[in-house]
Amino acid sequence: MDDVVDYQQLLEDAMDTARGVPDRGRVADYIPALAAADPAAFGMAIATVDGGVYGAGDWERPFSIQSVSKLFTLALALAEGGEGLWGGVGREPSGNPFNSLVQLESEQGIPRNPFINAGALVVTDRLLELTGDAVGAVRDFLRAESGNPEVAADDAVAASEARHGHRNAAMAHFMASYGNLRNPVDSVLAHYYAHCAIAASCRDLALAGLFLARHGVRVDGTRLLSRSEAKRINAVLLTCGTYDAAGEFAYRVGLPGKSGVGGGVLAVLPGRGAVCVWGPGLDAAGNSVLGVAALDALTTATGWSIF
Ligand code: DON
Repeated sequence: MDDVVDYQQLLEDAMDTARGVPDRGRVADYIPALAAADPAAFGMAIATVDGGVYGAGDWERPFSIQSVSKLFTLALALAEGGEGLWGGVGREPSGNPFNSLVQLESEQGIPRNPFINAGALVVTDRLLELTGDAVGAVRDFLRAESGNPEVAADDAVAASEARHGHRNAAMAHFMASYGNLRNPVDSVLAHYYAHCAIAASCRDLALAGLFLARHGVRVDGTRLLSRSEAKRINAVLLTCGTYDAAGEFAYRVGLPGKSGVGGGVLAVLPGRGAVCVWGPGLDAAGNSVLGVAALDALTTATGWSIF
């Protein structure tokens, strides 16, 4: 597309600006295996729809993708099963933290959206029903789109989360009591922990996110989603992808994006590319401080935005 853009310089400038944040936040430790992340790590990559891949800092170093995986489970569940998914999960912002249980009872076990943990558990359940292997479906998609056969779940991270996953287990059982899970709770949790525990780099995730920038088309030219479905996923990313900070993210960054407590943030530039940033220090909402700051700097410098 626009070959006069110096993507490399833009990334380096955005990272330099982000390095000026007064406080880089805290590394997640409620999943003990994540506490080992290097708080100084910082990487950023952009993949463009015309085939360019640019990166800076730790852009090729794998990290735990955590909730960034929820973007892919949603896309794959919609691709496999269609709109029926929306009977079991809403698409409204929750205004609550990603692991909150408070709305589930008053809303009869139907989570607000596919990106809070409760909603992601429903999506994982449906993907498991549709494919027989939810984590395998996500891993294979990431491998195919990134071209990196090394992308895989880190079993130690998944096991660590399982040992400490009381909240997710509570949500899953609670939703099962309303008949909103179709597989055994233990299977849903195992697949959920495993796809959250996939390790991938900024490079891998930027390439894997390109299907949304291409309006639903995969790297091999086949269509995963219709243009309309891709638009809808981008819309839900914008309104719900960064939880109770989605308003602030839209304000500062102006792009659809998905964060994870491993410190990754993947944002989509429809028609142009996908950008992934990794910095393990998180803000109070569970979003990467450096990640949001770098995306803010990039979009402020370039004017790239969906608005
Ligand atoms: O279920 C959890 O708590 C984690 N596996 C994922 C949470 C997460 O990444 C929230 N994102 N910012």
